[in-house]
Amino acid sequence: MTAPLLQVVGLSKHYALKGGRSLRAVDGVDLSLHAGESLGLVGESGCGKSTVARLVLRLIPPSAGAIRFDGRDIAPLKEDALRPLRRDMQIVFQNPHSALNPRRTVFASVAEPLVVQGIADAASTQARVTDLLREVGLPESFLWRFPHELSGGQKQRVCIARALALAPKLLVLDEPTSALDVSVQAQILDFLQDLRGRLGLAYLFISHNLAVVRQVCDRVAVMYLGRIVEEGPVEAMFRAPRHPYTRALIASVLPPRPSGLPEAPLAGDVPNAADIPAGCRFAPRCPLRMDRCSRDDPALAGSDAHRVACWAA
Ligand SMILES: Nc1ncnc2c1ncn2[C@@H]1O[C@H](COP(=O)(O)OP(=O)(O)OP(=O)(O)O)[C@@H](O)[C@H]1O
Ligand code: SF4
Ligand SMILES: [Mg+2]
Repeated sequence: MTAPLLQVVGLSKHYALKGGRSLRAVDGVDLSLHAGESLGLVGESGCGKSTVARLVLRLIPPSAGAIRFDGRDIAPLKEDALRPLRRDMQIVFQNPHSALNPRRTVFASVAEPLVVQGIADAASTQARVTDLLREVGLPESFLWRFPHELSGGQKQRVCIARALALAPKLLVLDEPTSALDVSVQAQILDFLQDLRGRLGLAYLFISHNLAVVRQVCDRVAVMYLGRIVEEGPVEAMFRAPRHPYTRALIASVLPPRPSGLPEAPLAGDVPNAADIPAGCRFAPRCPLRMDRCSRDDPALAGSDAHRVACWAA
């Protein structure tokens, strides 16, 4: 098998707080993603998904761990060395309304990465931007529109066109549909699936919603309080979720609930990442917890295809 396009090993991001305490936003994450593959990263708010995204793209430096992209560890690289690699990895953010400069035309926004990388020239740039708009399903007439003249879905398509401008290998999509109306969400998800098929892109697709991930992803990693608790093929995970947290997440998006899934949805909130419980991090909310769960910390284990961090699974 070929080497993964992206391989993250032991990735951590700790923030120092007053009083010598630290907030462990990401705390020992392992992930891999092959070229052309789509990996979902799901979990409740605050579990560290966006921090993983920012680390993988090296928008922030890790506290520990390796980030191998295209065979090279980019974790220790400085900005100068990262700049040429940025062409190959791009991000689309949750909110297209704030991601676009209201004073810039669609043309100027989509052309921006070409200008920043110094590969824009007057003759070819307009043709390239027109092609990119076509790629995302927008007509050439949109070139000279401003963001206030676009719908939410159209703005997100412009953001995706901008992310595609440098022909990346990896697209990180951080909740790309959650700021959109439900009907538009479905269109954008279909479009993203189609786009990946046509361009052979790899997606790291971040969402708090497993149902959305099921539509777009081949594999899914479930994150809880800075760690991955279960990872495997998305359909296998829906058929037979093993970690109690995954089971609860699936139960919350699948009415009526398949047999064997908990009746009660997730109780309580995610604990503070500055005050992580001892033992299994999910123990304070877990309906299956045992004595050892508050003492011992289960590590991710299992076959290469499907791994889970729970001894009751
Ligand atoms: N710069 C920072 N300084 C301190 N803490 C931070 C910083 N950035 C993020 N955090 C904390 O790290 C944790 C993870 O945040 P992150 O934004 O990665 O979560 P998320 O899973 O993306 O949540 P959401 O679904 O709400 O977007 C949170 O507790 C957050 O408050
Ligand atoms: S290790 Fe224990 S507390 Fe953690 S998920 Fe499994 S059963 Fe629940
Ligand atoms: Mg986030």
